[in-house]
Amino acid sequence: MWQRAGTWAVALAFGLVALAVFPAATFAAEPPWFLDPASEQAGRVARLFNIELLVAILVFLIVEGLIVYVVIRYRQRGPDDPVPEQIHGSTAMELTWTIGTSVALLFVLVVFWQTMTTLAAPPADAEALQVVVRGKQWWWEFEYPEYGFRTANELYIPVGQPVEFVTESDNVIHSFWVPRLSGKVDVVPGQQNRIWFQADEPGEYFGQCAELCGVQHAGMRFKVFALPPEKFAQWVKEQQQPAAEPVTDLAKFGKELFFTKGCAGCHAIAGTQAQGRIGPDLTHFASRTTVAAVLPRTDGNVARWVYNSESVKPGNIMWQTMKNVPLSPEEVDALVAYLQGLK
Ligand code: CUA
Repeated sequence: MWQRAGTWAVALAFGLVALAVFPAATFAAEPPWFLDPASEQAGRVARLFNIELLVAILVFLIVEGLIVYVVIRYRQRGPDDPVPEQIHGSTAMELTWTIGTSVALLFVLVVFWQTMTTLAAPPADAEALQVVVRGKQWWWEFEYPEYGFRTANELYIPVGQPVEFVTESDNVIHSFWVPRLSGKVDVVPGQQNRIWFQADEPGEYFGQCAELCGVQHAGMRFKVFALPPEKFAQWVKEQQQPAAEPVTDLAKFGKELFFTKGCAGCHAIAGTQAQGRIGPDLTHFASRTTVAAVLPRTDGNVARWVYNSESVKPGNIMWQTMKNVPLSPEEVDALVAYLQGLK
């Protein structure tokens, strides 16, 4: 008898500790956390999550509570304890759990539907900025059709204006996700998906591919910079300029190498012959904060990427050609000087 009670007490203690520790560990995560929304759209996603979590907790407590109650109340206390009265086929109970479940699911469906329809398209009267999002292996291309340029791994948006994203992929399925600004949308080959959001506060936000897409899935991240409208307009103007001409001899040599070593076959630089579309557009490479989305854009890191990109992002496409293109240390320096001058 006492041994059994002890077992129950231990099981109960474990259950309570698990219930207490699991949410604490989950919710202690630092932002970028989708429950710390910075836009109305992300706020709706967070609200939907919280409502569904509450419903799930409620169902869990009712079901588990009943199980624990029945197990304790109707356990066999001794060898002569009779089998409890059987109530198989109780109409009242079957009605209760059928109707109860239906009501709970219907409630979740309504809230879900409301959220999805609000997030499907920007308000008709708002003038949304369009950005084409292309998932690559493994980086992001952002094209601004009305402004006529492309950038990579860093997305700039104006604060206070809806931005509509049209997603495309020419390889595998990715998922475009800025946890603090929006829900996820799948980036599917041969199909255009759409999502929109509006940043309310200027700031830098973290973005991440949210669909397993190959060995560098985790490295397929990006930054979102939300700027006040005047600063955004300024940024657009700068991005529309053709690339800066190299000034130093080293950088001029680097520009030559860019063409003789084959870089121009994959990369585009506006104002030059380089029109490649396989890799990121490098016209304003030096206006970005990172190289390959995962390293700060220092001379050393750019050199590391140019010389041995495999050591930075194993499996990347550039390495498949560049491993066959020997570069001397001087040549690497020259290429770095040229790229770092592309403000
Ligand atoms: Cu792209 Cu994961």
